[in-house]
Amino acid sequence: MHTLRLLRQEDLPAVAAIESETLSPWTLRDLERELQVRYGRQLVVESPGSLILGWCACRTIWPEAELLKITVAKNQRQKGIGTALLGALLQELQGQAYSSLFLEVRAENAAALQFYGKHGFRQTGRRPGYYSDPADDALILLKDLNT
Ligand SMILES: CC(C)(COP(=O)(O)OP(=O)(O)OC[C@H]1O[C@@H](n2cnc3c(N)ncnc32)[C@H](O)[C@@H]1OP(=O)(O)O)[C@@H](O)C(=O)NCCC(=O)NCCS
Repeated sequence: MHTLRLLRQEDLPAVAAIESETLSPWTLRDLERELQVRYGRQLVVESPGSLILGWCACRTIWPEAELLKITVAKNQRQKGIGTALLGALLQELQGQAYSSLFLEVRAENAAALQFYGKHGFRQTGRRPGYYSDPADDALILLKDLNT
């Protein structure tokens, strides 16, 4: 049975390793900084053998929240871990009467777009050429938490 819990300092090397498998990865330094952010919220999913399988980071400025990152280890994808992370975050935000959760995603990230679509996000904007390495547009997606 996997555990869903708050990110801790000692998890950061494992999270950085998961990040290194993705486009626009966060470094150990980025992660250390994020852990200190006052309005930040970070969750991890841990295996029974204490392996970190995925994580997410969100910032909150009531009544809005932004999902900055959600990453599942490459060999653990499409097993519901992303859904567990997002579901826990949504439950917490809705419990605190947040009205919306928004995020930016690469326009060519088909898996993520499918994932967010399934979870009720809709596109509200586009930032052309926002990403580099490789170049891509950013789509701005929003989920209304009042419904
Ligand atoms: C996006 C991501 C977090 C999804 O996590 P996950 O644990 O694999 O997702 P889940 O198993 O919970 O999938 C839930 C739904 O998302 C969609 N989905 C997930 N991966 C998909 C893929 N590769 N192709 C198509 N649809 C996909 C499906 O609709 C899936 O539902 P289904 O299992 O009933 O088909 C994961 O692919 C990931 O870490 N990607 C790299 C980092 C990234 O792109 N993060 C988002 C950037 S903003």
